[in-house]
Amino acid sequence: MKARVLLFTLALSPLAFAADAEIGKALYDETEFTFKVNGELREDVSCSTCHAASDYTRAERKATDYRALHYWVDACNHRMDVGWFPDEVDDVTAYLNREFYKFPEE
Ligand code: HEC
Repeated sequence: MKARVLLFTLALSPLAFAADAEIGKALYDETEFTFKVNGELREDVSCSTCHAASDYTRAERKATDYRALHYWVDACNHRMDVGWFPDEVDDVTAYLNREFYKFPEE
């Protein structure tokens, strides 16, 4: 019963609480991982290998609110096996939101 109450509380807790956009910026800029890009397995792939700022500001961008942005950061983190911990995903979300998306924080 207690565990259930805790899970419920976590589900409702704000995503942006204590997230650090400065740490998120460093993670975004400096994390390199191994991934196949255009058929070539590279060890120096970063978020900006695939993304330009315009991805995050275009009218038809996928993320439509803070939660969706968090979902996408987490999706790329898993897809590329980047290895960021949940709090690091929170930080990168806060960074991208501060710089580009500017959604109200949740
Ligand atoms: C190998 C290419 C690739 C890499 C590397 C990559 N992504 Fe993505 N990302 C994608 C694709 C494909 C999508 C799906 C949306 C699209 O088609 O534009 C996406 C979507 C996103 C979106 C949603 C964009 C929107 O339209 O609102 C965010 C945010 C994002 N990625 C963050 C990241 C972050 C943070 C990293 C670094 C860990 C990263 N991505 C690395 C390919 C990549």
